[in-house]
Amino acid sequence: MPKRDFLAFPDLSVAEIREVFDLAARMKSGEYHERPLAEKTLAMIFTKSSTRTRVSFAVGSYQLGGQALFLSSRDIQLGRGEPIKDMARVLSRYVDGIMIRTFDQAEVEELARHASVPVINGLTDLLHPCQVLTDVFTMYEFLGGWEGKVVAWIGDGNNMANSWLNAAYVLGFELRLACPEGYEPDRALLERAQSKTNVMITREPEVAVSGAHAVNTDVWASMGQEGEAEARLQAFRGYQVTSELMAIADPSAIFMHCLPAHRGEEVTEEVFEGSQSRVFEEAENRLHVQKALMAFLMG
Ligand code: CP
Ligand code: NVA
Repeated sequence: MPKRDFLAFPDLSVAEIREVFDLAARMKSGEYHERPLAEKTLAMIFTKSSTRTRVSFAVGSYQLGGQALFLSSRDIQLGRGEPIKDMARVLSRYVDGIMIRTFDQAEVEELARHASVPVINGLTDLLHPCQVLTDVFTMYEFLGGWEGKVVAWIGDGNNMANSWLNAAYVLGFELRLACPEGYEPDRALLERAQSKTNVMITREPEVAVSGAHAVNTDVWASMGQEGEAEARLQAFRGYQVTSELMAIADPSAIFMHCLPAHRGEEVTEEVFEGSQSRVFEEAENRLHVQKALMAFLMG
């Protein structure tokens, strides 16, 4: 069987997503005791910071009977210019899977092309598929599924927004994005999602949130955009998720954020800590969903 990667949300079919979610739910409930990664190793390459991704993949590998190696680009030869295609072929001879967080999506694709083991995208400037897979699982847990649900995205058209477009493209739920001018998501991903399902882009957060079942946001300056933080603070004024905004969502709506969050910028303290917030369940679910994903790809 050819190896499978998870570089973008559409790498899994709807049936496979259901399979991963069923497994994640069994892992979360404590009824799953298998060790599909026994004697297996996951290499984790990071050229950007991480708390959740690093720890959840490391702990998840261990809980499935395997181990994970943290490889910072500061320490491995990649940081000194060793070609990705060489690293891919070398690591494939030692490890059973590679998770990578880096800037350029093309590098992750190149790694996957040359690796003979599964490659998992742990975030690029373009996409964050493990996070949105987890977020859809969180919707499934708290809202009973994604069918007929409306998801609102408020703020930057960043890697998270692009992955929500991909999720809407695969799963067919309605997605409404409110982004300021100049901060829209990737055009090709937007158009592809729009060809499949109801995806709206607006400048008005109220239009996106009205009646929505899940309200999502993220930081205004992502990793690598620190130099733009001041300009972005101005551009995103009016795109904060407040209690007033949550009040026009569906009464059962949940608030989600991939974290880390900047309270007082993209979300108020009140919403972040409020009764509709599921941010810590969402963070916990990274562990369960990625364990299921590793069992599926590497087990
Ligand atoms: N949400 C997320 O990916 O968090 P980290 O950057 O801490 O991994
Ligand atoms: N959009 C954020 C997500 C962090 C998990 C970033 O790329 O920094």
